[in-house]
Amino acid sequence: MDVRELDRETAATWIERWDRQQERYIADREERFQVVGDVVEHVCRSVAEPVVVDLGCGPGSLTTRLSARIPTARVVGVDTDPFLLGLARTTGPERVEYVRGDLGVPGWSESLGTGGAWDAAVSTTALHWLDPDRLATVYADVAAALRPGGVLVNGDHLYDEQPALRDLAAAVRDRRAERAGVTAHEDWGSWWTAARADPELARAFTPADLAAEGSGRGNQLSRRQHVDVLRQAGFREVGVVWQSGDDHVLVAVR
Ligand SMILES: C[S@@+](CC[C@H](N)C(=O)[O-])C[C@H]1O[C@@H](n2cnc3c(N)ncnc32)[C@H](O)[C@@H]1O
Repeated sequence: MDVRELDRETAATWIERWDRQQERYIADREERFQVVGDVVEHVCRSVAEPVVVDLGCGPGSLTTRLSARIPTARVVGVDTDPFLLGLARTTGPERVEYVRGDLGVPGWSESLGTGGAWDAAVSTTALHWLDPDRLATVYADVAAALRPGGVLVNGDHLYDEQPALRDLAAAVRDRRAERAGVTAHEDWGSWWTAARADPELARAFTPADLAAEGSGRGNQLSRRQHVDVLRQAGFREVGVVWQSGDDHVLVAVR
């Protein structure tokens, strides 16, 4: 991959299209980003140059929003996907760092080169991709990397173990999507198919770079399972600060 061949406008267009595609699944995605930012801003309010790591950053939607909101922060995005990282790097800003890394491989947190303790780790719609055992290890890795009082902030679909409530949350999510008008947005598979067919992208990326990973279905862990695993990983307090249907922002305090 040589992202120098990719022009900024093309990358920005694909990121804009990514954001619309993701809204199909998360109607209140922008509000969820704001809530993640509210938590990080509050936790970092007396830190001169906070370190914030975005786990599974994709093309940098949250990474760039956090960097704009807290310009003094060192924001580092980590992801496995070379194409999504290429889009993120091409559009910048320069002060945001992107690292290709796999949360499924031990040592990923040290490989980011952040040096000292992190103030916050954030993630949106990404941690459900990890199998439960690996997720438990990632939670422990993040707990070890955070300073006392630092936070892990995870925006993702989390499920209720009670079947009726699980169904209700899904119904609320679906009605909200209809009201927000996002059900007609391009879906995940169509976005990747279109990306593979774009000659501009084919000049900058290999076919392997443009092969999407995963189906998005994920580990289907419940909110209670996340809370239990986070507590076992050493987080002092764990709880939900925002919810819409089955979409949550879960915060764990070190
Ligand atoms: C649905 S996307 C969300 C991206 C971004 N956080 C957002 O909200 O737009 C899920 C992301 O998780 C990344 N991902 C999945 N498994 C990963 C892993 N083991 N390590 C790092 N990133 C991973 C994917 O490459 C993808 O970019």
